[in-house]
Amino acid sequence: MSFMNMTVVRGDITTRAVDAIVNAANASLLGGGGVDGAIHRAAGPELLRACRLLHGCPTGSAKATPGFRLAARWIFHAVGPVWSGGTRGEAEKLAGCYRACLELAHQHGLRSIAFPALSTGIYKYPRRQAAEIAVRTCRTFGHSLERIEFVCFDEETAAIYRSLLARSLLAPEREQAAL
Ligand code: APR
Repeated sequence: MSFMNMTVVRGDITTRAVDAIVNAANASLLGGGGVDGAIHRAAGPELLRACRLLHGCPTGSAKATPGFRLAARWIFHAVGPVWSGGTRGEAEKLAGCYRACLELAHQHGLRSIAFPALSTGIYKYPRRQAAEIAVRTCRTFGHSLERIEFVCFDEETAAIYRSLLARSLLAPEREQAAL
């Protein structure tokens, strides 16, 4: 995936007019606070009914529902890891969330997707480490999407993503591969 397809957006992911937005869900898929609460409020009550039929989702993976009242046609509910100091496989589980969402987008033939900063709120994942995993996983994914948005709710997170993408665009190919 080219960095040219990736962009940083400041704001509320529920307003993004992309093919799919990603929810920072929990394993029950029955709603919560943060992004989860915002998406359920904006998508309407049909979303919870659809989520109940999914019977949960393991950490490090994602499941799809329609977007209902959202501008986005799909919602990919990703279950990120809770940060436990970095010794419990958190990095691999977080990368798994991004990969699972990119796979879902590929399977559905989608062209654009918007990610929140998964696990970096209530789940306390360190912002920069999480952003590096997000960008690297999208960069090395085998199929290309026209547009990947990293939607950041706060300026600190946005600045981290901007610096990562700027560095990646300037880095020689070998370094980019290392990202
Ligand atoms: N749009 C975009 N980003 C948002 C929004 C929004 N409307 N609301 C919050 N965020 C940001 C947060 O500031 C943080 O950077 O999304 C990131 C993820 O934060 P959380 O929503 O707290 O998600 P996470 O850390 O993955 O914790 C998931 O929280 O809401 C519960 O049910 C959810 O148990 C699960 C847990």
